Amino acid sequence: MDISIVILAAGQGTRMRSTRPKVLQQLAGRPMLAYVVDCARGVQADDICIVHGVGGEQIKAEFAQPDLRWAQQSEQLGTGHAVLQAMPGTPDTNRVLILFGDVPLLQPETLQRLLGGCDGDDVAVLTVNMDNPYGYGRIVREDGRVVRNVEEKDATDAQRQISEINTGVLCCPAAWLKTWLSSLKNDNNQGEYYLTDIIEMAVKDGVSVHGINASSQEEVMGINDKQQLAQAERALQRERVTTLMSEGVGFADPSRVDIRGTVTCGKDVFIDVNAVFEGDVILGDKVHIESNNLLRNTTLGAGTRVRANCHIEGATTGRSCEIGPFARLRPGAALADNVKIGNFVEIKKSTVDQGSKVNHLTYIGDTEIGKTVNIGAGTITCNYDGANKHRTIIGDGAFIGSGVELVAPVTIGRNATIGAGATVTRDAPEGELTVERSTQVAVPGWKRPTRQA
Ligand code: UD1
Ligand code: CA
Repeated sequence: MDISIVILAAGQGTRMRSTRPKVLQQLAGRPMLAYVVDCARGVQADDICIVHGVGGEQIKAEFAQPDLRWAQQSEQLGTGHAVLQAMPGTPDTNRVLILFGDVPLLQPETLQRLLGGCDGDDVAVLTVNMDNPYGYGRIVREDGRVVRNVEEKDATDAQRQISEINTGVLCCPAAWLKTWLSSLKNDNNQGEYYLTDIIEMAVKDGVSVHGINASSQEEVMGINDKQQLAQAERALQRERVTTLMSEGVGFADPSRVDIRGTVTCGKDVFIDVNAVFEGDVILGDKVHIESNNLLRNTTLGAGTRVRANCHIEGATTGRSCEIGPFARLRPGAALADNVKIGNFVEIKKSTVDQGSKVNHLTYIGDTEIGKTVNIGAGTITCNYDGANKHRTIIGDGAFIGSGVELVAPVTIGRNATIGAGATVTRDAPEGELTVERSTQVAVPGWKRPTRQA
């Protein structure tokens, strides 16, 4: 039987108190809905339909992907009414798998288990025992069999004691689903058409309802407010860090690291506190990340050390480089082996070849630096004339004195030396000393100004 997946994402998410629709709230740097869509793609389905309503245009714009179908729910009349909007276009012979846009940590293996746990003609509901079931629908069983779901707001005190909850995820034959959805009533304490009422209808019609248990409470957390969003974020981070630790990565404190993308590590990598990783980051063997670093879409070669407080984006390094403390590598910074980048240095769209050092208070942009070059403190490549960017080329073995301005386009020859304080506007010859400096004078008789009374 083919599977149609319906993802509910039309609700406002009032409890988030945000201008962004709930399913676009970010979890590890991506909208919640992205995780649900990924999970749906992990199941062999012939259709994935997202029910949108509040903020629908914004959601559609962020998820403009060809394998997604859209159904509009103009008024949010409840989860049952939401699923009904996706039914036109869903073949009667399919099984429908319903996912919630606000249950993002769900794993495809669990869905496989849910689908495997029932015959194509039955209904399967994903449930879990929650330590604190407050707010969730409770699963009522009689003689061990699932007979109905009761929402928190409609439950009796005795029913509120039930710890087995409805995760919202369920699977149902499409023909039955259409029949039951069209006979839903909203005579409950919220005046909504509850999807969950189909459980009782199934039992009445003699269709078996299987309650399948999720693997963990965290996996099926429903996220309604900022507190739950933060809890889900921590759960997700803990899982990512645990995986890295199992692969041999060392962390000073597994609870003080944030991975908002992928981190791929070699052997004996160590990560100190407050590291934030975004996009795709690759760390070679023995890379050491000190405290308070942001690394985004970056690859660091084996043995490289990033000292505290650096901001590194779109950069690559060779082996055994040392960066920081307080350095900024911007997109296109490409360092070869054994390069040193020190404090308050910014490097953009530039290559720095083997063994070169840029240690203090420097801006390098649109530059090619050769091997074993030393760039003195406070050097600036003046790459921008107000309209266009120009390149600076510094040959192997060059020595740039402190406080030098290299006005691009300009080339510094191999083994050239530039005296401190120069503003270099013309190419400097190989192997020579180039000085650009006015004569120092002492002004006779000059007095410091005095404060006026
Ligand atoms: C729902 C379930 C509850 C379950 C919990 C699990 C119902 C009636 N209740 O409660 O049993 O324990 O989820 O997290 O199903 N939505 C729409 N259109 C609507 C209403 C909601 O698309 O008219 C979407 C929301 O965007 C959200 C999802 O459905 O993604 C769930 O809605 P929400 O209001 O959060 O339901 P809960 O009260 O959490
Ligand atoms: Ca919810």
